[in-house]
Amino acid sequence: MSKQKIILGIESSCDDTSAAVLQNDLLLSNLISSQDIHKKFGGVVPELASREHQKNIIPVVHEALKQAGVGLRDIDAIAFTSGPGLLGALLVGTSFAKGLSIALGKPLISVNHMQAHILAHFVRKRSEDKTPDFPFLCLTVSGGHTQIVLVKSHFDYKLIGETRDDAAGEAFDKIGKMLGLPYPAGPFIDKLAKSGNPLKFKFTLTSLKDYEYSFSGLKTNVLYFLKEEISKDENFVQNNLNDLCASVQYSIVEMLLRPFVKAAKNLNIKTIALAGGVAANSALRSEISKKAIEHSWELFIPEFEFCTDNAAMIGIAGYFNLLQNNFTALDVIPSARLTVGGNSYNSNKTQIRCTH
Ligand code: KG4
Ligand code: ZN
Repeated sequence: MSKQKIILGIESSCDDTSAAVLQNDLLLSNLISSQDIHKKFGGVVPELASREHQKNIIPVVHEALKQAGVGLRDIDAIAFTSGPGLLGALLVGTSFAKGLSIALGKPLISVNHMQAHILAHFVRKRSEDKTPDFPFLCLTVSGGHTQIVLVKSHFDYKLIGETRDDAAGEAFDKIGKMLGLPYPAGPFIDKLAKSGNPLKFKFTLTSLKDYEYSFSGLKTNVLYFLKEEISKDENFVQNNLNDLCASVQYSIVEMLLRPFVKAAKNLNIKTIALAGGVAANSALRSEISKKAIEHSWELFIPEFEFCTDNAAMIGIAGYFNLLQNNFTALDVIPSARLTVGGNSYNSNKTQIRCTH
């Protein structure tokens, strides 16, 4: 492609309204407006999320363009998340993107949120930034999904394993709620665990056949353990909070890495990667780094701002679609449970779902 392309990315699948501007694969701006309104409810309230997106989307896009030094007329394509996610939240981003596309006469590109988490590895802040070689094995871990994905090209993915119930982020958030931590609890557990003993409390580490995950057993195990201990000492949680966080975090990280390492060995993989919000977890980052050294795998972990939901990852997915002239018709409708095959996430096997 001769001319540099400007892509506007828009993300609104859950509780972050985000807009980013890229020049080809180079990031010019990435604005994220997180919705604090859900904190008091201990989880995301879908209707409130949609209303917050409606309030935020114009200022966030405006600021992203301003920071990038780009005018509306400079945009070559508008990429937006069409699923999976909360339907009402997706509708705000989709409708906004369609309106902008009509007003500017520029093409629309719908993006699968799960594919975008993986493609976040290809966003460059500097032209010399290194990106993974294909194929690589990606552990995608967020609030709605836990998947091992074999990435063969920007558009060719094979799902190797996934969770049967809760996602890893959901396990962090739900167990954190039991410990009285605010939503989303993942980052709080991470912080408190730093001064706790990960081996103080032993929880059941569920392991399933093949490369499947299940986190519901751990959640129940912690719930009954806490009930029992609190019946003996009502201040048990307060007195042991750091050790509880460290032990829960240790369990989730172990459960995540065992099938992933097994899959990487069996598939004879040379390059591995982490993606999604839980990829921000410090224990997961350090444990996967040890595994990479042990097995001589090249490891890619996104910078923090590209782990949790962001529009830079939507913009980069847009860029790769733009290179292929893979545009989306204006009658596109978002989908809460987007399956793969449509929306440019090409795989005949992969089933993507999101349980936000
Ligand atoms: O990718 P993401 O922003 O949204 C979804 O697509 O779900 O991931 C959000 C999830 C939440 O469950 C949050 O608790 C978790 O990522 N998370 C973390 C950390 N930072 C975010 N979990 C553990 N440790 C962290 N540092
Ligand atoms: Zn996400």
